Amino acid sequence: MTPREQWLAATGATKATIGPSELKYWTRMIRDGWRFDAKHDFSAELLKRLNYSTPFVFEEELRSLALAGQQLFRVLDVGSGPISAAGWTLGGGLQLEVVATDPLGSAYNRLLDEHDGYHPTPSGGRIVGPKVRALTVEAEALLDVFARDSFDLVMSKNAIDHAYDPLLSLVQMLSVVKPRRAVMLDLYEREGEMQKYAGLHQHNFQWRDGRLMYWAREGPKTDVANEPRLKELLDSVSCRKGILPGVVSTGSSDYRAMSCRLIRRG
Ligand SMILES: C[S@@+](CC[C@H](N)C(=O)[O-])C[C@H]1O[C@@H](n2cnc3c(N)ncnc32)[C@H](O)[C@@H]1O
Repeated sequence: MTPREQWLAATGATKATIGPSELKYWTRMIRDGWRFDAKHDFSAELLKRLNYSTPFVFEEELRSLALAGQQLFRVLDVGSGPISAAGWTLGGGLQLEVVATDPLGSAYNRLLDEHDGYHPTPSGGRIVGPKVRALTVEAEALLDVFARDSFDLVMSKNAIDHAYDPLLSLVQMLSVVKPRRAVMLDLYEREGEMQKYAGLHQHNFQWRDGRLMYWAREGPKTDVANEPRLKELLDSVSCRKGILPGVVSTGSSDYRAMSCRLIRRG
């Protein structure tokens, strides 16, 4: 099987499944209002994502790289899951358009439809939402759908290392973001290794000695900044470890969390 065929099987979007399927996980998440048990309780994060007043998570980066006088900002969330974690508002009356994408978009939207457009909460209630639904697009194929240089910021949270070709995904993300703007990646270090390469966890990223390293199960470690496909698009990359302010803790994996900022070449 090619990496893409393996990945398709592992998403649960096809009939054949290898390992635990991504879709099975999200079916349960949605049904249970993002609370499996006391140890795996993501319901605070769910309520935050469903709240249309939640501030945009990367507002500072967006503003610091914006053109003077810009009023409307268009951002892309790649691998958004059923409900984007982007947040929905900007301060100072600035306007924000969030576009969410995920290869399982149609499947997630069917799951949401099963609840009549509402979302179950752990207390047995329901909340209308989400504000934006995911378009069905693979990170590796963003340019099939979006124009080059068309977003003010591109983000991806805990998703790029679930793709079948994370480096190609980065090429696509850096192509659709405008020059001199940022691609923001939230990742868990060494996710493939830590998840024992189960399901979609086939890749690893790590921030080491000022370099963002990438490797797959079998294959060499690559410095992302020196990857030939990325070189002409990438101006700089920097990461900081630890969960971001405002991000709801996921518990035991927090020590592996990191947030990376990749700047598109001008
Ligand atoms: C752990 S979930 C994270 C979802 C969301 N970003 C969040 O933080 O809740 C990983 C997501 O990556 C998506 N994914 C898998 N392969 C992908 C690909 N090739 N391109 C983009 N997203 C992908 C999965 O469908 C899934 O929704």
